[in-house]
Amino acid sequence: MQRLGILLSGRGSNFMAIAEAIREGRLPGTEIAVVLSNLPDAAGLETARKLGLPAIAIPSAGRKRAEHDAEMIATLRAHRVDLVCLAGYMRIISPEFVRAFSNRILNIHPALLPAFPGLDAQAQALEFGAKVAGCTVHFVDEAVDHGAIILQRVVPVLDQDTAETLSARILDQEHIAYTEAIARVLSGQYSLVGRRYVRRGKE
Ligand code: GRF
Repeated sequence: MQRLGILLSGRGSNFMAIAEAIREGRLPGTEIAVVLSNLPDAAGLETARKLGLPAIAIPSAGRKRAEHDAEMIATLRAHRVDLVCLAGYMRIISPEFVRAFSNRILNIHPALLPAFPGLDAQAQALEFGAKVAGCTVHFVDEAVDHGAIILQRVVPVLDQDTAETLSARILDQEHIAYTEAIARVLSGQYSLVGRRYVRRGKE
């Protein structure tokens, strides 16, 4: 079994999409080992508990990043996590955390990176006048929204879009993208060639 550790800070719809994919057999040989949040009242934690999954709050407020991350790493290890999935985890992780799970931490970002990193990516795309938007699942490295891209899905920007309508259509694609990206990573069929994540034998 490949064991996932999910990190979230909010509603957890990407987490739910992953849980649903596992339930439906779309990620065979995969299970969610633990759901962690830095915010004790994150809705995603409650959802995890309802699904019968271990759900643990490790509050970050007022704590040094290194100390908080050390507890996160220890908890992930205690649950024998193979792959860490950041799913709306609104906290920058330390270089120590990145190194503890080297090329084993994934993040999803609601833009076509390297365009529009950071907060409110969908509103940034709209204000910039981009005609296509989308989402990116990438490996986490020491810079924010920067690591090698695993996959992207494209969403057209419509003339009548608001940040809300665009975000909703991107979110639908995020839910597809995250499961596909996890499947790709766990398949063992892809490798990194520089920043390019390519199917082995095709590089
Ligand atoms: C998503 O838009 C994701 O791309 C971003 O944070 C949001 C999390 O949403 N990193 P949810 O908590 O998974 O519903």
